[in-house]
Amino acid sequence: MPYDVARVRSHFPALKPGPGTGAAHFDGPGGSQTPDVVAQAVYDVLVAPLANQGDATAAERNAEAAVVGARAAMGDLLAVDPAGVVFGRSMTQLTMDLARTLAKDWGPGDEVVVTRLDHDSNVRSWVLAAEAVGATVRWVDFDPATGELDPARVAEQLGDRTRLVAFTGASNLLGSLTDVRAIADLVHAAGAQTFVDGVHLVPHAPVDLEALGADFLACSPYKFLGPHCGVLVARPETFAPLRPDKLVPASDDVPERFEIGTLPYELMAGTTAAVDFLAGLGSYHLPPDASRRDRLVASFTALEEHEDALLEQVEAGLGALPGVTVWSRARRRTPTLLATFADHDVQDVRRHLASRNVNAPAGSFYAYEASRRLGLGAAGGLRIGLAPYTDDADVDRLLEALGEALAR
Ligand SMILES: Cc1ncc(COP(=O)(O)O)c(C=O)c1O
Repeated sequence: MPYDVARVRSHFPALKPGPGTGAAHFDGPGGSQTPDVVAQAVYDVLVAPLANQGDATAAERNAEAAVVGARAAMGDLLAVDPAGVVFGRSMTQLTMDLARTLAKDWGPGDEVVVTRLDHDSNVRSWVLAAEAVGATVRWVDFDPATGELDPARVAEQLGDRTRLVAFTGASNLLGSLTDVRAIADLVHAAGAQTFVDGVHLVPHAPVDLEALGADFLACSPYKFLGPHCGVLVARPETFAPLRPDKLVPASDDVPERFEIGTLPYELMAGTTAAVDFLAGLGSYHLPPDASRRDRLVASFTALEEHEDALLEQVEAGLGALPGVTVWSRARRRTPTLLATFADHDVQDVRRHLASRNVNAPAGSFYAYEASRRLGLGAAGGLRIGLAPYTDDADVDRLLEALGEALAR
C-alpha cells in the first residue's frame, strides 16, 4: 500500500490554507509541524484532573499513566527497555547533565572523543565536562568532500584511556548518515562507551539501540512530530552505576534518578501520541494485533521510500537551477539538503522563499564546527528538510520560488 501523504497531511492544522498557515514546510530538521492528535493528547492531560504521580486519586493516576505511557512509547520507538527512558527539557539539557555525571569518574589522562560533524550539543557538552575535570578532548574530522564520518578516523583517536566517544547518527546540517554500528564496535573494542546524538536520525529511520551499539542515545520528540522535550535512553544497567546530582528526597531509582524536578506530563502524553501517529504512517498492511514496534518499523520503511522519492525530485530540480552548490553528498543520507548559491546570499534566498510562503531556513544550525570545516562559516547554507507531511506540491512550490529567487 503506498504511503498516503494526503491522509497524513489532513492531521496537521498548520498545513491547512489560512491566515498564517499553509506554508510549504522544509524546516522540519529544526522542528516538525504537529499533528492534531498530539496537540489533543497534550490538551487532554492538562484539562483532566492532574496531580503529581501516585495511585491514590484519579489526578495522581492520570500523571502516572502519562509517564508510564511515554516510557513505553519511547521504548518501542528506540527498541529499549522503558526503564531506560529518561525525559528532560531538551536533548541539550540531557546531554550536558549526563556529561557532568560521567565526568565525575574522569580525571587527567582520561580521553573523550568528539567529532566536527556534530551539532554543538554533542560537542560542547563533552568539551566542557572534560575541561572541568582535566580530561583530554580528541577530535575526529569528517571528509568535507563527502560529508562522511569515516570509522577509520575515529579509530585513530582511540586509546587505552578513551572513556567515551560522542558522535552523531545523522548530521543535521548535511543529512549524512553515520555508520553507527561500525564506530560503536571500534569504540567498544577499545573499552570505551558511545554516546549517539539521535536527534536528526530518529525522525527518518527505524532505530534500535542494541543493534546500533549505542550505550547512550538522545533525541528530541519535537523533531518527530511530538512536543518540545528531550529523551535520553540507555539500558537500565548502563544507567545504574551513575550518580547524577539530585535532590535528597527525589527518587534514586533508574530512570527517575536522572529526571530533575517534576516531569512534563502533558508533553509526555504528546510524545506517546506522536509515536502512535508515526506507527500508523505506513502499517496498514499489518494485522490489527501487530505490535507497536512492528508498526513503527513498517512505517519508517514506508516513510523512507516516500522521503527518498521526494528528495530525488528536489535534487533534480536544484541541479537544473543556475549556480547551486549542494553540500549533501554522503552515500547514505537523510532527506536533508544544504545548498549555497553562486550569486545570491543564502539569507536573501531564504527571505524570498518566505515571501512565497515556503519555509526553508538558512544558517549553520548549531553544527558550528561542521559549517566552519566546510568553509561556510557562521553563514552556513539554505537547509531543505523533508518530513512525513511533505508532498509533491510542496516540492513544486519550493523549486518555483527558488527559481524566482535565483533569477533576481
Ligand atoms: C542533530 C541535533 N542534535 C542536537 C540538537 C539539540 O536538540 P535540543 O533542541 O532538543 O536540545 C539538535 C537541534 O537542532 C540537532 O539537530
